[in-house]
Amino acid sequence: MSSLTPIRFTPVDLDAMASAEGRVAVVVPPEGKMDHGARRANRLTRGALARLIESREFARAKSGQVITLAWPGGMAAEALDVVVLDSRFDAIAARRAGAKLAALAGGKPMLVLFGSRRRGAELALGIALRAYRFDAHKTAKEGEDAPLDPAPVTIQISDPEAAEAALAPLLAVAEGVHMTRDLVNEPANVLTTSEFAERLRAMEDLGLRVEVLEEDRLAELGMRNLLAVGQGSDSPTKVVVMEWQGGEQGRAPLALVGKGVVFDTGGISLKPGAGMEDMTMDMGGAGTVAGTMRALARRKAKANVVGLVGIVENMPSGNAVRPGDVVRSMKGDTVEIINTDAEGRLVLSDVLWYAQERFNPEGIIDLATLTGAIIIGLGHENAGVFSNDDALCDAFLAAAKAEGEGAWRMPLGKAYDDMLKSRVADMKNVGGRAAGSITAAQFLQRFVKEGTPWVHLDIAGVAMIKEGTDYAPKGATGWGVAALNRLVADRFENGD
Ligand code: BES
Ligand code: MN
Ligand code: ZN
Repeated sequence: MSSLTPIRFTPVDLDAMASAEGRVAVVVPPEGKMDHGARRANRLTRGALARLIESREFARAKSGQVITLAWPGGMAAEALDVVVLDSRFDAIAARRAGAKLAALAGGKPMLVLFGSRRRGAELALGIALRAYRFDAHKTAKEGEDAPLDPAPVTIQISDPEAAEAALAPLLAVAEGVHMTRDLVNEPANVLTTSEFAERLRAMEDLGLRVEVLEEDRLAELGMRNLLAVGQGSDSPTKVVVMEWQGGEQGRAPLALVGKGVVFDTGGISLKPGAGMEDMTMDMGGAGTVAGTMRALARRKAKANVVGLVGIVENMPSGNAVRPGDVVRSMKGDTVEIINTDAEGRLVLSDVLWYAQERFNPEGIIDLATLTGAIIIGLGHENAGVFSNDDALCDAFLAAAKAEGEGAWRMPLGKAYDDMLKSRVADMKNVGGRAAGSITAAQFLQRFVKEGTPWVHLDIAGVAMIKEGTDYAPKGATGWGVAALNRLVADRFENGD
């Protein structure tokens, strides 16, 4: 796994500033009042910082912005980053400031003068989240350095011990996010179904119980929808069950269910060639479940949570499932497969059913890069949220908001469900062009038992992005790990 940037909190020591390598950052509120750190930076640069604060550029700057003084005289550093930040700032603002600094630093060493401010841990989380690189497959060229481990970050702060303690559970989240990104960024010839299962099994070291169900077992269980998706691939289909028992003995778990299509060619309903390479990310739902389980285990969450992922590859071949085939699900309902590219819902249908039969969960949240239509509807800003339970749904939306992860609720209803009627079977696997993300969700709901609170997250637009975001460089984002971690903390740990 790509390693987290080492971040250390130290007591304030202004004498370290002049000789610090890489970049130095100070914080100045919009009204321009300098703290001790800023005043020292100003003295070292012979008044450059004060002139910046007097400038029009500074007057126009909004809280959260960073203004860089390049190659500041009087300092060894190559840049002095001036973070403009309101004196009263919240956790998200601190996190964003950290992420901005990390994006500017690009892996170089960094010294941040945070002084007596609170929320140093959130600043550090922002740095850890943004300072991510996926260079596992980059070869160092002649004369260039091999990809280096990320350089250390030092944050000077009045109470380093308190910041350190607050950072520990946040770093668990950062580690989970990085794991999700690594899985989602990995190409499908590396992250085969077997390799994926092995990487999940390795989390046994963290105290998770991990079980891998192989094809013969899946056939015994009757997961024919899932197996139909994988039957055209030479890679074996698997279901991996990850259990975290940190809560009360006997309390029903929260179940997280993920779509883990390691590559989606579309199958016999083959996708067009342009952009097909992006379908390496079609295991993003499973990747997010894995990263969340990692975060929960790393911070020893006092909750019972079980993660179940369907790992499969959707390929065309002489054995592949065809349009028109009828398959009987584990639940017992039959499905007419109209389009083999609507495979995610087939995967999830059996895993959702199995999750309920085996664990009788208190709630279910599934995650899937399920439909292109959700990208048409919500772009890359928000995941689509669908639910049969306002309480669980609102709790998730609140958690996502608190973590700065976009999520927007979409409707469900009988008229949409009716669009899945089939001439020959109990349902068909597509509902037509209209409301494509909603009919996909309706398909899933048919495999959720009455009375089981359920949230479906369509993450096709947010799991992987071509532009960097506030918290992630371009590529896999790890969207959802932080929100799900918070949901568990807020709703499944505090005795309710
Ligand atoms: N994995 C895709 C959805 C997807 C599209 C994810 C773009 C990420 C980016 C899914 O399996 C799929 O192919 N869905 C089809 C459904 C259709 C055939 C009803 C789609 O969205 O076109
Ligand atoms: Mn597909
Ligand atoms: Zn897919």
